[in-house]
Amino acid sequence: MLRTPFSPRLWLMSRRSLSSSPPHDVKRPRLVGLTPDDYRNGVMLAPMVRSGALPTRLFALKHGAKLVWGPEMVDKAILHAERVVDSVSGTISYNGKQERAMFTCHPIEKPYLIFQVGSADPNLAVQASRVVMNDVSGIELNCGCPKPFSTHAGMGAALLTNPDLLCSILSALRRDLPPHISVSAKIRLLPAQEDTLSLVERIVNTGINCLTIHCRTRNMRPREHALIHRLREIVDFVKGLGRDVAVIENGDCVGFKDAQRIRAITGADSVMIATAAEANPTIFSPSPLTSIEDGFILSYLRLCKYLDNHWASTKFCVSQFKDSKSSNKALRAAVIKAKGYSDLGALVGPWTGSDEFASIKAAIDARTTTPPFSLPADESTPSPPEEDTTTTPSGWRGNPDPAVVYEAPLLPANECRLMVPAGVSRQDPGTPTPITFSTAVPLFLSLSDAPGLNKSWAGVASCSGTRW
Ligand SMILES: Cc1cc2nc3c(=O)[nH]c(=O)nc-3n(C[C@H](O)[C@H](O)[C@H](O)COP(=O)(O)O)c2cc1C
Repeated sequence: MLRTPFSPRLWLMSRRSLSSSPPHDVKRPRLVGLTPDDYRNGVMLAPMVRSGALPTRLFALKHGAKLVWGPEMVDKAILHAERVVDSVSGTISYNGKQERAMFTCHPIEKPYLIFQVGSADPNLAVQASRVVMNDVSGIELNCGCPKPFSTHAGMGAALLTNPDLLCSILSALRRDLPPHISVSAKIRLLPAQEDTLSLVERIVNTGINCLTIHCRTRNMRPREHALIHRLREIVDFVKGLGRDVAVIENGDCVGFKDAQRIRAITGADSVMIATAAEANPTIFSPSPLTSIEDGFILSYLRLCKYLDNHWASTKFCVSQFKDSKSSNKALRAAVIKAKGYSDLGALVGPWTGSDEFASIKAAIDARTTTPPFSLPADESTPSPPEEDTTTTPSGWRGNPDPAVVYEAPLLPANECRLMVPAGVSRQDPGTPTPITFSTAVPLFLSLSDAPGLNKSWAGVASCSGTRW
């Protein structure tokens, strides 16, 4: 969903001729459903509003993401969308009022694309899913978004405390969608492990294929360390239920090698990445691009133009790319100033987006014979942490739900993603998490004054926010 300042006039001018059928050179993918095994042994691109745009998903697939998730769409928004196909590239747009593209996808990603719906109503969830189901392979219910715009309507993380509704939506999706459309859910941890296990049991029994667990609680901030040590118990619990449901870890993974570490700790079937992929969509590969500014941004811009990606979306995604060294400041500055692709002609030309597209298509087509990088099997048994962080002490009910400092929902990501050990915010780590301070951190302290904290952590406090 695009939530940037938007000019319908400019957008309409930038769009090419539209039709309701794909151009002839786009091969229709086979109608095959995803099985739980398709969710296993992979590194996945997480759902990300704004940042999970079509070009980013295609580059993630090219560089080894096994499956990709689209950004969350609220059921009512997609229900009234008009589906149009770009006659040049084959890009499919679901347009809302004033022909604004709310969700775009492409037939080449369909076998690997999960559509995430935000809903608090089983009927609406099913109807919305039916609108898009011919362009995707799976439907996922978002049960983790903690933003007020989602929770006030009973969607997202609000479902975590309304398991009857949550499970009725999943059951309706499974019952009313065709069997080749897989159904999955993405949740967060509850403060107490025993409550998480009860919820997971109910969810798994709805017949879904996959459950993604973002290892933070609803009130934890993005820069607090995910509580991945709590996941092993949950993974084993799901296996013990005897249902064929894949469990995906989400939280804090920074790339393919890191996914192996996380898998060894958690036993999860796969690992899902959001923030690190937002900064570098190639990190799914064992050898990702290390310099984003040298070449990748140019390729990205070219592909975006070819796909007729809305300029505001392209600009936002490029602004989220991060490089260890800033080697092409001129390009960055030009993108910030540009009002459209045509303003970048001198720096980017020639616009060889069709070549970029062809190389992505070739990489995706090659998957039928050569699978993307697989995570090695989970054979290692990691040594237990010094403290037992996997089980919840009896009687622990979690912290009361404190007021969360909500920020603008679309706060630019990554500006100061420094990880904070869970517990620093004193929100609700739920299960005791080892923190490195010898002195307890007082509740309302100024982080810059905290013992053992360096100055940069003060910035963490000022840019902290809740994220999905
Ligand atoms: C820019 C951005 C947008 C997000 N949008 C969604 C979303 O639409 N649906 C969702 O379930 N989670 C969303 N999330 C949360 C991520 O999917 C993920 O759960 C979270 O960032 C933790 O993963 P990480 O530690 O790899 O960042 C978003 C995260 C970011 C950074």
